[in-house]
Amino acid sequence: MSCAASQFSTSDALHFFRAWISDPLRVASITPSSPALARLMVAAIGPRTGPVIELGPGTGVFTRALLGQGVGEADLVLVEKGAEFADVLAGRFPSAHLLSIDAAEIGAATLPFAAPVGAVVSGLPLLSMPAAKVAAILAGSFVHMREDGAFYQFTYGPRCPVPKAILEGLGLEATRIGRTLRNIPPAAVYRISRLPVRQAAVTLPDSSDAKPVLAD
Ligand SMILES: C[S@@+](CC[C@H](N)C(=O)[O-])C[C@H]1O[C@@H](n2cnc3c(N)ncnc32)[C@H](O)[C@@H]1O
Repeated sequence: MSCAASQFSTSDALHFFRAWISDPLRVASITPSSPALARLMVAAIGPRTGPVIELGPGTGVFTRALLGQGVGEADLVLVEKGAEFADVLAGRFPSAHLLSIDAAEIGAATLPFAAPVGAVVSGLPLLSMPAAKVAAILAGSFVHMREDGAFYQFTYGPRCPVPKAILEGLGLEATRIGRTLRNIPPAAVYRISRLPVRQAAVTLPDSSDAKPVLAD
């Protein structure tokens, strides 16, 4: 790590710690996520993903990783409720579109893109939020999402931080895509996507060699 990079990390750690002291429930971690967790969060995202929404960027660890994957800065919407982080993000990523709103309002937000987004990357502390808020964040994110798009969420907990009932109610499924010990504390990453459209198998009645076909 270069000297500049290490100073950058130390100042981020301090910034983060101060934000956590002032609002521990919202910030929910005493340090920014590690580069290892950031790599896991963005591994499946690239220039062909198109526009991306990031929820709760904090000091921008995942934002930098997204840029490293080839996502254009102008293709990013950063949704950050904390004023202390929003100021930092505006200085660091001047071409990204910063929304200083609560992530639960994302569904009603007007995005600056002609196409729907290909991914939502979330650093939000979902485990410390009420279920109705988690549902609003997920539903609102998928309002803007392309059919094959996905929502990436990390957690320090042992299972997906989105309750099963919320996933089922919104027609979504969650898959754990990895875990890293190189983060404080260790974390797992989930990919949440739309369930495939169900198709029923029917058999043609009047042909002996009829094969099952799929109907809508
Ligand atoms: C655990 S920190 C993660 C920061 C960064 N993504 C990282 O991994 O280092 C949670 C972030 O979500 C933001 N946040 C919490 N609740 C929010 C909400 N309802 N809407 C928007 N941002 C929120 C916090 O201000 C903070 O930046």
